[in-house]
Amino acid sequence: TPPVRVAMLGCGTVGTQVERLIREQSADLTARVGAPVELTGIAVRRPHRHREVPEELLTTDAEALVASDVDVVVEVIGGIEPARSLLLAALRAGKSVVTANKALLAEHGPELYEAADESGADLYFEASVAGAIPLLRPLRESLAGDRVNRVMGIVNGTTNYVLSAMDSTGAAYGETLEEAGRLGYAEADPTADVDGFDAAAKAAILASLAFHTRVPAEAVHREGISRVTAADITAARGMGRVVKLLAICDRVVDEDGGESVSVRVHPAMIPRGHPLATVGGAFNAVFVEAEAAGQLMFYGQGAGGPQTASAVLGDLVAVARNRVAGGRSPRESAYAELPVRPMGQV
Ligand code: NDP
Ligand code: HSE
Repeated sequence: TPPVRVAMLGCGTVGTQVERLIREQSADLTARVGAPVELTGIAVRRPHRHREVPEELLTTDAEALVASDVDVVVEVIGGIEPARSLLLAALRAGKSVVTANKALLAEHGPELYEAADESGADLYFEASVAGAIPLLRPLRESLAGDRVNRVMGIVNGTTNYVLSAMDSTGAAYGETLEEAGRLGYAEADPTADVDGFDAAAKAAILASLAFHTRVPAEAVHREGISRVTAADITAARGMGRVVKLLAICDRVVDEDGGESVSVRVHPAMIPRGHPLATVGGAFNAVFVEAEAAGQLMFYGQGAGGPQTASAVLGDLVAVARNRVAGGRSPRESAYAELPVRPMGQV
């Protein structure tokens, strides 16, 4: 069987680990996919900074790499452009796409899904929400026959790391945020984390999948943690509570039976006995409530290079298997529209 040829865009915290796993687990990947998985090139901005990967793989011409003879494009650049144009080009050419880019999906998901549907290409994005935790595949596939009413939890590792450190050691906000950056948890611009944009993008993706609709990121009520002070955390502690940044996605059913969706991100004081109160460091935890399944809880490391790379590799195996044996990712553009309540009203 010919190899599945893979181009990777970006080689930072996540990409470095993806390259390592593809190299170190080559034999296992071949066995699981039914063909060798071959990384043919890696697009970066500054090749001289990437001594950790074979030099011959590096290029600064991402467009040419996407247009080259590859089956799969893995995107771990982040941000909107050039990621959007590169992934649209890949999907329109029938190439499978794996991405960790929540900002892009929350803002341009429909455009990407449509491009994928038109060419029949795969679009997988498990790593975009909650790092290592398998959460999107369960919502997209395992729970597709159930009716999800609520998705709620901690979906940003950086802010959870900061809030947990402030609570447990009294550490200063600025210091712990810098530490989260050094550990590779924070976005390139950490205001995306602390102002709640990252969690809002993830909430938009979760609500879209859970309720089979389209929730744009701008429809998510968003309040970050930049105004949470050490005094707030001490006050919460005095009340037997802990401050956490929560994402809450609800299906709202009116008295007349009309349905809509409410999505919001904001800090909340949680009783210390609640399972979410014990989620520390860069861990995430998400509760899903579905009509038949009841309550489910997903927990694990929500940020970090190796953890996120695990989710990317899972998607890579899925799309590579589809290319070898046939099959496709679930169609997203076929879903129905539910109105989204303004400002996350309930
Ligand atoms: P980094 O900032 O560490 O890495 C970004 C990489 O993209 C760098 O290698 C950079 O190249 C490259 N790059 C940037 N612009 C371009 C461009 N125009 N052309 C080619 N290459 C470019 O980001 P992360 O690895 O942390 O994150 C990547 C994605 O994964 C983001 O979408 C992020 O939201 C998502 N993600 C991150 C997680 C994490 O814990 N870090 C967890 C889950 C998702 P160079 O190094 O040469 O400048
Ligand atoms: N910056 C993000 C976080 C990375 O801290 O959760 C994982 O998506």
